[in-house]
Amino acid sequence: MTAEVKKIAVLGGDGIGPEVVGEALKVLKKTEELFGYQFETESGLFGGIAIDEKGTPLPQETLELCKNADAVLLGAVGGPKWDNNSKELRPETGLLGIRKALGLFSNIRPATVFDCLKEASTLKPEVLEGTDLIVVRELTGGIYFGEKFRREGAQGEEAVDTCVYNVQEVERIVRQAFDIAMTRGKRLASVDKANVLETSRLWREVVNRVAVEYPEVELEHVLVDNCAMQLLRRPSSFDVIVTENMFGDILSDEAAMLTGSIGMLSSASLGEGSFGLYEPVHGSAPDIAGQGISNPIATILSVALMFRLTFGYHEAAASIEAAVKEVLDAGHRTGDIAVDKSKAIGTTAMGDLIINAMKK
Ligand code: IPM
Ligand code: MG
Repeated sequence: MTAEVKKIAVLGGDGIGPEVVGEALKVLKKTEELFGYQFETESGLFGGIAIDEKGTPLPQETLELCKNADAVLLGAVGGPKWDNNSKELRPETGLLGIRKALGLFSNIRPATVFDCLKEASTLKPEVLEGTDLIVVRELTGGIYFGEKFRREGAQGEEAVDTCVYNVQEVERIVRQAFDIAMTRGKRLASVDKANVLETSRLWREVVNRVAVEYPEVELEHVLVDNCAMQLLRRPSSFDVIVTENMFGDILSDEAAMLTGSIGMLSSASLGEGSFGLYEPVHGSAPDIAGQGISNPIATILSVALMFRLTFGYHEAAASIEAAVKEVLDAGHRTGDIAVDKSKAIGTTAMGDLIINAMKK
């Protein structure tokens, strides 16, 4: 069987990024062998390494590489080396830039509790039981992208960040969240701060308008502060959460940590079509970079997510997910998820176990 060649732009980034991406590439190769798919991968510089080598976190050639690809696989960016740089020379600026330039307005972050890793969470197992939720975060609007400036006020220097949303921006993300809810538990929590913010009042109006088209989906409006609390109190009652950019940034970290295994969680950033950028939820972990001990599973599961959402290769995605489960069930752990740290295995050993467990 020969399949159409799919182009994947690979941005390893900084810290543990390149090493976890290396394991994900082994998984891609294995799916070529097992399922006859064909991938053409090309690497680009992105983040801190791009600042060092090209003087900008998002070089034009990297952006072109991504635009010409069917999907992007990203490791992680950032590190102490660039923390004190000016805004233009920060890895995070590259991340915001790539999201905007590629039109990736929707960020999907699943927080699934892996049964065999329940003990890794800080929450009681009975509270956690059955938790399987997705945070759908608006990614290219709001306070992240509004006008920002300094000015001289009556009391001296002031800083201003503006938060702007238009109806179209809210509608497209909300619609996507309803669509995702329809494929899952048909429950949607829309999170806002409508008791205070005008952008949130607009958000809520749009949600209510779109909801009419999805009578099967049970909708609740939750204020963001209350949502932060409910996520700890009753995490398993959530199915899909949709929210604006900054609330989503905060709540998705909280949701990820509930599972106790941030090293396991993958994410997708999507636009209007099938194109997507896939990356682990965790960061570049500069403290353990280069030691060969990082957990590659989140990046490997990001490949599975890419197969499902961009390529529609569901069989191959299932094969990756089953292999991960099999390896974990057999008791293999990297340091971040191991209870007995002395038995922890390294990055490449974990990658090898997973590709060897993959079946057609
Ligand atoms: C994330 C990160 C980024 C964000 C930072 C690094 C700019 O926290 O992807 O959640 O705030 O969006
Ligand atoms: Mg964040």
